[in-house]
Amino acid sequence: MKIAVIGTGYVGLVTGAALAHLGHQVVCVDVNKDKIMLLKSGVMPIWEPDLEDMIRGAEFEGLLNYSTDASAAVSDSDAVFVTIGTPSSESGEADLSALWSVVHSIAPMLPDDGLLIIKSTVPAGTCVQIECYLRQSLPDSSRVAVAHNPEFLRQGSAVQDFLAPDRIVFGASSPEAHERLEEIYAPIESPKIRCGLKEAELIKCASNAFLAMKISYANMMADLCDALGASIDAVAEGMGLDRRIGPANLRAGAGYGGSCFPKDIRALIALAAKEQVEMELLKATEAINRQRIAVIMKKLESVFGMLGDKRFAIYGLAFKPNTDDTRESPALQLCSMLQQAGARVTAYDPVVSSMPELQVELAPDMYAAAEGSDCAVIVTDWAQFGRLDWGKLKQMMRSPYIFDARNMLDAASMAVNCERYGLRYMSLGRPAITPDAPLAIDLNR
Ligand SMILES: NC(=O)c1ccc[n+]([C@@H]2O[C@H](COP(=O)([O-])OP(=O)(O)OC[C@H]3O[C@@H](n4cnc5c(N)ncnc54)[C@H](O)[C@@H]3O)[C@@H](O)[C@H]2O)c1
Repeated sequence: MKIAVIGTGYVGLVTGAALAHLGHQVVCVDVNKDKIMLLKSGVMPIWEPDLEDMIRGAEFEGLLNYSTDASAAVSDSDAVFVTIGTPSSESGEADLSALWSVVHSIAPMLPDDGLLIIKSTVPAGTCVQIECYLRQSLPDSSRVAVAHNPEFLRQGSAVQDFLAPDRIVFGASSPEAHERLEEIYAPIESPKIRCGLKEAELIKCASNAFLAMKISYANMMADLCDALGASIDAVAEGMGLDRRIGPANLRAGAGYGGSCFPKDIRALIALAAKEQVEMELLKATEAINRQRIAVIMKKLESVFGMLGDKRFAIYGLAFKPNTDDTRESPALQLCSMLQQAGARVTAYDPVVSSMPELQVELAPDMYAAAEGSDCAVIVTDWAQFGRLDWGKLKQMMRSPYIFDARNMLDAASMAVNCERYGLRYMSLGRPAITPDAPLAIDLNR
């Protein structure tokens, strides 16, 4: 099939490349001329594992092209995917202005039997409105259909998630549109759910909100473990083995960030409020998440007292590992709160090497970041932070504190490292480890 993908961001580029990999003829379109130039000249505009290989393969087959000309791409397509950003507005509602501007501008170019597939995450009701708009604005002869095919990929494993998803959701109001979606995704073997437009929109938002709720639940329990001197590891493991609960998203830490969970929850709360439905569970999820950095700051203050003369090495700036995306990253919030407290901050991230808007010194490697620091704080759980040479790190530091704000390190191994190198290890919802009290000393008390 000939497919146009409008919006070549984290979702659009993966979608375009993966559909080309599946054998479709794809054009990825973006208004950002620099991005299209980079792609045409073989330079990746984002960092995402396995994506470059898939892109090169599809380009070699002549199945993947890039353009800034939406009109040409749309008029020559059997199906158009819209993967435009839908960020939060001031009120928390999804800002759909860019999405509508695309719909308005491409509508006249859609072939009479075209299929417009909204892949962007949108509030329930949006696709029905788009369908109404097209019915009113296009000639009676037009049989353009609208579909919603929400995306569930996770940055960091986007390629794998796209090609082997847990499910694919086809929202549409006609069997023909459902059939066309089935055809596009035919090579992928996974459960495929056919439903209406609103149901598809709600499946996406409800799933993201539920996942975020699990994270906040684990964080809430971690705070209780801290207060009781218990370990969240055992609690989470014991909970996660229950198949009704499952182990994913139960690790305590600095909270969720990124361009999806925070804004999708805000949008769902705002949408429900318009319908006089109160989403108390989601408001609590948000409130717990907002408090995570304050919890970390409190722990740091309980150890160091005033932070004004202290130096911190921040490990990780991306909102999660294996991506260069820093949108709503807890690491940025922590950097800014430490700076507000007067502390000096040096950060290191394996792929984020420049952030002019963040007034923080960036170090070229993990050890340089720790030089002269009082505490190394792991805020993004990049695998390489688990392979640190603790002896070397200790030598670089002024004080020997490691704060694992993602609970990524194994507590028992860190007990050994603390004893061997004289380190002090703190995490969330787990007793702190010091050389004098290798098993359990709570520095909060
Ligand atoms: N990032 C994720 O992990 C993820 C996962 C699932 C769903 N989603 C949803 O997918 C959508 C896209 O997210 P994203 O992270 O890819 O956003 P993004 O900001 O990375 O990409 C959006 C792209 O659209 C382009 N664009 C803006 N206006 C345009 C126009 N008029 N014509 C052509 N291109 C235009 C931008 O230049 C940008 O490249 C959002 O609704 C998001 O909620 C994102």
